[in-house]
Amino acid sequence: MKILIYILNIYKSFYFRSLNLKKEGRNCTYKAFSSKFICPQNMSLGDDVQLGPNTEIDATGEVSIGSGVIFAPGVIVYSRTHNFSSDDLDALPFDNKIILSKVVIKDFVWVGRNVIILPGVTIGKAAVIGAGAVVSKDVPDYAIAVGNPARVVKYRNSEQIEKLIANCDNPSLLSRKDSHSKILIYKSK
Ligand SMILES: CC(C)(COP(=O)(O)OP(=O)(O)OC[C@H]1O[C@@H](n2cnc3c(N)ncnc32)[C@H](O)[C@@H]1OP(=O)(O)O)[C@@H](O)C(=O)NCCC(=O)NCCS
Repeated sequence: MKILIYILNIYKSFYFRSLNLKKEGRNCTYKAFSSKFICPQNMSLGDDVQLGPNTEIDATGEVSIGSGVIFAPGVIVYSRTHNFSSDDLDALPFDNKIILSKVVIKDFVWVGRNVIILPGVTIGKAAVIGAGAVVSKDVPDYAIAVGNPARVVKYRNSEQIEKLIANCDNPSLLSRKDSHSKILIYKSK
């Protein structure tokens, strides 16, 4: 068993070394064995990004993830789709043209479990995407969006968020790892 784990770890380190992202900031955690990255050379990560296990990102059309972003497990991001509806369509259900649309996820976004983010979407700064959402349109800064298709149900306190960012020497470190030790547990009412 130990030998098997050892071999798997060697394989894993070679696999992730060969990913070669377009840009990778400091302190990023995304190397779960269960995650899958297509076209990683078109994928950029800011600082302190955490992508949970079973993340699947197709960055063929480019995916940009800002600093302090957290993905729960099982998030899927697509930046390309098939051509199924142009005037010159020449096969069914789609032809061999690929349509690329960049996805942008700005700083401090939290994406809940099993969310699907579709091509061309921009998710605004410090937005929250509820578990299981399908994001088909842009989400504004500070919004909380849920459901399929994802709809904004409320907004976060933007003043509070901006104050937190302004009062921190290294804003990206607001989010995670270092601050994990300071997390307090609140009981919901
Ligand atoms: C999005 C989220 C943060 C909102 O939390 P909240 O502010 O406490 O939201 P509320 O409970 O006030 O819900 C507001 C409305 O959205 C609905 N809603 C909340 N989360 C939803 C979700 N994931 N999908 C669909 N609807 C949702 C609520 O039912 C409520 O609807 P109503 O106004 O018709 O009653 C939370 O529900 C969520 O999905 N968290 C992610 C959990 C997760 O993935 N954890 C992994 C750990 S990283």
